[in-house]
Amino acid sequence: MYRFLLLVVVILLAACSPVVSETSQLIPTIDSSDTELIATKLSYERLCAHCHGYSGEGQPTGGGPGTVERSIELGYHPVPMHNAEGHTWQHADQILFEMIKYGARSPMYIYIMPPHAGQLTDDEIFDIIDYIKRFWTPEQRTHQAQITENFLEANPNWEEYHLDIYSEEQDASNID
Ligand code: HEC
Repeated sequence: MYRFLLLVVVILLAACSPVVSETSQLIPTIDSSDTELIATKLSYERLCAHCHGYSGEGQPTGGGPGTVERSIELGYHPVPMHNAEGHTWQHADQILFEMIKYGARSPMYIYIMPPHAGQLTDDEIFDIIDYIKRFWTPEQRTHQAQITENFLEANPNWEEYHLDIYSEEQDASNID
């Protein structure tokens, strides 16, 4: 019995290993003792990765329902990539925050960008934004940090408005 179980484990490991080694090169490496970061990575993988890709590569390719090819065939934009090839790094943290918290429904996309206000706290959303930054090049990170600063200069009350008043109104309307 023990030998049989061992055999099953060996076969399963052999079957899984090519996939694991292929994707693990793309997924950002993280310190295994950093439990907060691991929790953020798991949230991203649970809530976002099936649309935006485990390493921000966007909607899956390869044809068939749900893939980039199918979206393009039907005249839609594919789900945006978050990696260095996408354009997420060209948006300020505040805009990314609003997109993740409140979502978006554009006729240009076959999928909606779902709102996550009920699933993630504001801090968790900012943690996920920081996680996404790991997919970018150092130059893109520097550029995006500057955009985030510009945005705050142009909208100095953004935090107060969106993280306090707006959030409370939103929470209250959810309860009603
Ligand atoms: C059902 C598929 C789906 C899921 C799940 C999803 N998204 Fe999206 N996301 C989209 C689509 C589609 C858009 C484009 C929306 C638009 O621009 O109108 C988008 C846009 C975005 C953008 C703007 C990116 C850019 O460069 O324009 C961010 C940031 C984002 N999503 C983050 C997330 C995060 C973080 C999660 C998980 C917490 C998530 N998304 C879950 C489909 C999804």
